Amino acid sequence: MKTLVLVNQKGGVGKSAIATVLAHYLAGLGLRVLAVDLDHQANMTKPLTLSGKAVVSSTTADKVLTDAAATVEVAPLVLLPSNSPTLLALERQPDRHTEFARNVRGFLRRMSTQFEVVIIDTNPNPDIRVVAALVSATHALSPIQLNQESLDGIRALFNHERVGVARIKERLNPHLEFLGMVPTMVENTPFQRRNMETLMGSSSYRERVMTMGGSDGRGEGGPFAMIPKRSVVAETQASGRYLPEIRNQTAARDAWREIEPVLRRVAHLLGVA
Ligand SMILES: Nc1ncnc2c1ncn2[C@@H]1O[C@H](COP(=O)(O)OP(=O)(O)OP(=O)(O)O)[C@@H](O)[C@H]1O
Ligand SMILES: [Mg+2]
Repeated sequence: MKTLVLVNQKGGVGKSAIATVLAHYLAGLGLRVLAVDLDHQANMTKPLTLSGKAVVSSTTADKVLTDAAATVEVAPLVLLPSNSPTLLALERQPDRHTEFARNVRGFLRRMSTQFEVVIIDTNPNPDIRVVAALVSATHALSPIQLNQESLDGIRALFNHERVGVARIKERLNPHLEFLGMVPTMVENTPFQRRNMETLMGSSSYRERVMTMGGSDGRGEGGPFAMIPKRSVVAETQASGRYLPEIRNQTAARDAWREIEPVLRRVAHLLGVA
């Protein structure tokens, strides 16, 4: 079983949008998918619930940390929904943090016969939820935005004392594989082009941007991954519709043509397709 955490302490970079569409996409490939919404903002819970395609579990996401015996319904696509007040309260129980992290590990181990992929959407604050997810995950992916504020945060993405991906890998989870940063909401403006050049100008950042491999999404290298800014993506987050199923809109078809290769690449890098 592969466990992918969407992580970036910067808010509003597209974590939940990618987590949602990826859950649909992987389930559409015939994989058994568990989506876990650790964010109290519930931005993956809303669209997956509205879509009608996921079984909304009676186990809320906080139970993954707090309940050593948490179980999940058997279905091809299951959502552990966000439970805001309880999720927010976890950080305020430091004496239980070790137990929380241990519970996540045990939970994922128990789920490994039931699901092939777990997608975890996280909150932007660097708290125990993010730590516990990263400590037991197999993979992490970081959507980033090409604005100055977001670029300033990249160093923290890797080196943040508590939730930096490199720090976690070094100290707590040597198996964690970073799939890369994926620029999202990309616009062809002079401002974003300049920021893209800044990003790519640093070799240590450039080598951490996800690449697309060959034309079939396999192999090494290839062009850099990116997801363009398309209003239809925001609309699908609000309505719960799955992008490729909006057939009567050219904008939706065009956006899907741009986004689907990135999802295929993620599936390949996860080793599930
Ligand atoms: N490619 C895109 N094109 C246009 N809008 C997008 C795109 N991706 C995401 N959005 C929209 O941008 C907003 C922020 O995205 P999202 O909620 O996925 O970010 P996030 O990183 O999960 O934020 P948070 O850190 O608050 O959890 C949402 O309204 C979402 O619908
Ligand atoms: Mg989010």
